[in-house]
Amino acid sequence: MKKYGVNELRRMYLEFFESKEHLRLKSFSLIPHNDKSLLLINSGMAPMKPFFTGQEIPPKKRVTTCQKCIRTGDIENVGKTARHLTFFEMLGNFSFGDYFKTEAIHWSWEFLTEHVGMEPERLYPSIYCEDEEAFRIWTEEVGVPADHITRFYRDENGDCDNFWEHGAGPCGPCSEIYYDRGVKYGCGKPDCKVGCDCDRFMEVWNNVFTQFESDGNHHYTELTQKNIDTGMGLERLAVVVQDVDSVFDIDTMKAIRNKVCEIAGVTYMTDKKKDESIRLITDHIRSVTFMTSDGIIPSNEGRGYVLRRLLRRAARHGRLLGISGLFLAKLCETVIAESKDGYPELEEKRDYILKVLTLEEEKFNKTIDQGLMILSEMEEAATAAGSKTLSGEDAFRLYDTYGFPIDLTEEILEEKGFTVDMEGFKKAMEVQKETARNARAVTNYMGADATVYDEIDARVTSSFIGYDKSSASSKISVLTTDTELVKEVVAGQNVTIMRHRSMLRWVARLQTSVRLQRAMLYLPLPIPLS
Ligand code: SER
Repeated sequence: MKKYGVNELRRMYLEFFESKEHLRLKSFSLIPHNDKSLLLINSGMAPMKPFFTGQEIPPKKRVTTCQKCIRTGDIENVGKTARHLTFFEMLGNFSFGDYFKTEAIHWSWEFLTEHVGMEPERLYPSIYCEDEEAFRIWTEEVGVPADHITRFYRDENGDCDNFWEHGAGPCGPCSEIYYDRGVKYGCGKPDCKVGCDCDRFMEVWNNVFTQFESDGNHHYTELTQKNIDTGMGLERLAVVVQDVDSVFDIDTMKAIRNKVCEIAGVTYMTDKKKDESIRLITDHIRSVTFMTSDGIIPSNEGRGYVLRRLLRRAARHGRLLGISGLFLAKLCETVIAESKDGYPELEEKRDYILKVLTLEEEKFNKTIDQGLMILSEMEEAATAAGSKTLSGEDAFRLYDTYGFPIDLTEEILEEKGFTVDMEGFKKAMEVQKETARNARAVTNYMGADATVYDEIDARVTSSFIGYDKSSASSKISVLTTDTELVKEVVAGQNVTIMRHRSMLRWVARLQTSVRLQRAMLYLPLPIPLS
């Protein structure tokens, strides 16, 4: 098999399905559209749910994409294993009430064997255990020997398995294709076969015969149209094609990994702990680059928190590798260079992405320096008292007063054989919330919940000029996000800008309202408040 690169494989796949009359669509944003069941897009089919259910009309009944995906469910394993990633690309071909099992199966085989050059004898399809139609197509039409087909069962009672479902929405039985990478990747157990946890039989393709709608609670209704949803992890395909040990060894990932090593001045594969950090950074920098390019901004909730957490984990592991100072923007450049072939928008948004990541890295560095010092004092005190547990109150003080993330406290202490009293932490958090609720009741004179506006210096006043003007130049004295007073804001954030009669230095041209109002602004970046 020829060792195609990641960018080449992506192109080959999309072109192949274009030749089968599919419309090639750009990857959808990582931010789900009109879908409250997902925080982030986690598969190729997720943005297309309305096309499967018939709620929306697709631009064509056959579509192919390479979709950016994020899955953070296994975040603890990233860096520790050969295959866990938080960001990955999923190749997919989709049919919305057009072709069904026969074509999907034939084309998956054709692409893998004739275009990628996989040896048929190394391929092992799996099926949903009662799917006789899929079994017949594989054996009679494609010519796969029956002993190469695996029927998946969930348990010893014979319940069927191999059913794709992620939250509410379209779902259905699957037929995957596994590639036998040979005994050198195997666990050596005599019963090692398709489905074994080791790296010998690797799933490369998943054909989902999407024919049901799930309500998310295992209640299924038959869809009126039969659909096809296929998914093939691009990185995983590249592992097989390039015959490398892990996703961190494929060409595009290796370039990022090498850059991490270069910045840190370390060599890969010389120290187990360092390797974990190198891999973790290599993965996380891709996630944060793509998330930022889709307009997600670091914050303390939702997607913004996922971004903040990934970025901060990467920054901290940089420190573990001995990197001092800012380094994420440098790595981000490598991510852009490696991925712009498939995602030209990365190049267009380069300055914006680098700015957002650097601002957050700087913020984190300040937090972490202070937090680490305090944490080590707390550790010393606990050790002196003969304890290996950090009290809930101490962990909460770090979090609440110094902004040190609790997951980081846990991670750092875990590495040293310490635990955190999480029950105590949660109790302290509850007490604080209660206190804040009571405090608000008295501090806000209108009796409403206190907001960030209650923190603005009372001397700052404003006047409304929108009655007779639609634009004006004004100096800014207060900037807030939804939750805090800040000195800088970036495009896409909900911000409030206040002007002031006298304490003015920076001049911004704003649309009408510069009064105490919220505004969604799309301004040049960043906006400094000097
Ligand atoms: N939805 C299936 C998966 O994510 C196939 O695209 O594996």
